[in-house]
Amino acid sequence: MILPINAERPMRVLQITDCHLGAESSETLLGLNVETSFVDVLEHALVREETPDLILVTGDIAGDPSAQAYQRFVYHLDKAFPEVPFVCIPGNHDVPATMASVFPESSLPKMVELGDWLILLLDSTIPNKEHGDLSAQELDFVQKTLMHNPDKRAIICMHHQPVAVGCEWIDQYKVASAAQFKALLSEFDNVELVLWGHVHQAFETEVEGVRYMASPSTCIQFKPNSVDFALDRLMPGYRWFELDNSGQLSTRIERINQKDYPIDYSSNGY
Ligand SMILES: [Fe+2]
Repeated sequence: MILPINAERPMRVLQITDCHLGAESSETLLGLNVETSFVDVLEHALVREETPDLILVTGDIAGDPSAQAYQRFVYHLDKAFPEVPFVCIPGNHDVPATMASVFPESSLPKMVELGDWLILLLDSTIPNKEHGDLSAQELDFVQKTLMHNPDKRAIICMHHQPVAVGCEWIDQYKVASAAQFKALLSEFDNVELVLWGHVHQAFETEVEGVRYMASPSTCIQFKPNSVDFALDRLMPGYRWFELDNSGQLSTRIERINQKDYPIDYSSNGY
């Protein structure tokens, strides 16, 4: 996918992740109606932000991967941002074939070009497994794309975390081939950012000059630095990016205003 750029201003990207929508709109996750919080997040972005150039969705769109869940995702996205293209990668809770049967083909590219920027969309899922991995094919795609585009700044997206975020219980599901992935990146100097979902929390670090980031879910939030499963009381949210033509990337997390969702904060799993 190649997006038209506006030379007068930075490109704007809205990242949303881990919506966990169900087959019914009444679906809840630990007491939270996941469709309500998803719509709340979209409305917050709609009111607060300029219109994005791209919506980037980093997996776990569905919690129960039925066609209806993906249909309602598209319905709400289109209602809030009718003119904005969206692109998706699957998470461990998604079924890629069902996603592909509902989403337009244009929303499932391997790469998006926005002027001087390239967004690579990797599939880190393994069917019926919770942890992530990048296949030899995905690593080869990264290697070839970076090699053939030395003048572009790259953002590499996947669902699972390629570095530990500090939550023992969920870090056991990180990308198994993370060491190979990082070794591969060290051969290039045009990777700006590695970005993922999965961990339902904001996270940022830097490894060998590359920024690594995770973002809040549109539903429940996991508590940072937890050994065992624990929920955070932070509100659902999104991440906002501005990418300018000189290769500068700025980003921030936004969360919806405090709202009294009936979440079971004492739960020890989901
Ligand atoms: Fe998730």
